[in-house]
Amino acid sequence: MKNHTILEPLREDQWFIESQELRSFVAKVSEISDRTVDDRTQTLARLEPYFQELLVQQEWLPQKFAQVNPESRMGGGIGQWLLYRAKDRSVSIFSLVIPPGSTTPVHDHLAWGLIGLYKGNQEETVYRRVDNGDAQEHAQLQITEVRRLQTGDIYRLLPPDGDIHAVKTTSQSASVSIHILGNDTGCIWRHQFIPESHSVKSFRSGYSNAPCQEEEEKEHALY
Ligand SMILES: [Fe+2]
Repeated sequence: MKNHTILEPLREDQWFIESQELRSFVAKVSEISDRTVDDRTQTLARLEPYFQELLVQQEWLPQKFAQVNPESRMGGGIGQWLLYRAKDRSVSIFSLVIPPGSTTPVHDHLAWGLIGLYKGNQEETVYRRVDNGDAQEHAQLQITEVRRLQTGDIYRLLPPDGDIHAVKTTSQSASVSIHILGNDTGCIWRHQFIPESHSVKSFRSGYSNAPCQEEEEKEHALY
């Protein structure tokens, strides 16, 4: 299994869309997350009303960031579009676009987070790990909940609670969810689980529109 290496800081905060709504929200995220460093339950509770406000506004997300991605690394045409990430990689905000009928792999996130449905309907299956992680590449999962989500619904991640899940689009058109995570989710090495074979492997989803560190270095090496 890969080490969960610490990622190098970026040169500056990165913005992938121009939106006053998102800028105001990010200001709230920094303020609240700094003030509640020792209690992430509070981070989530205080952020949620602002996130709810952002979700009901349907104009700020450009169409390009609500599109599926046929070249997706997650498979199934799933688009993971980075909207913002903090210089120190302590916060990332991205949209996840899942085509109708597609399902994400079973995966974890390894950070606090809020996820809200912006468009469409989803079914989320939540798991909990019941083995102690001692046996390599082995993981025993139990389903704890299956939730049907509608536009505007929000759920919380606070590892280990709610951190392992798979999400499927149940609407006729692609579902779009907005993720606020307390790490650079697309770039860290996390886990993908295969419940049927009780196995787990290292997984890095990447983003559809932004490189991770090693990819950046490779790009620079080309010039
Ligand atoms: Fe997820």
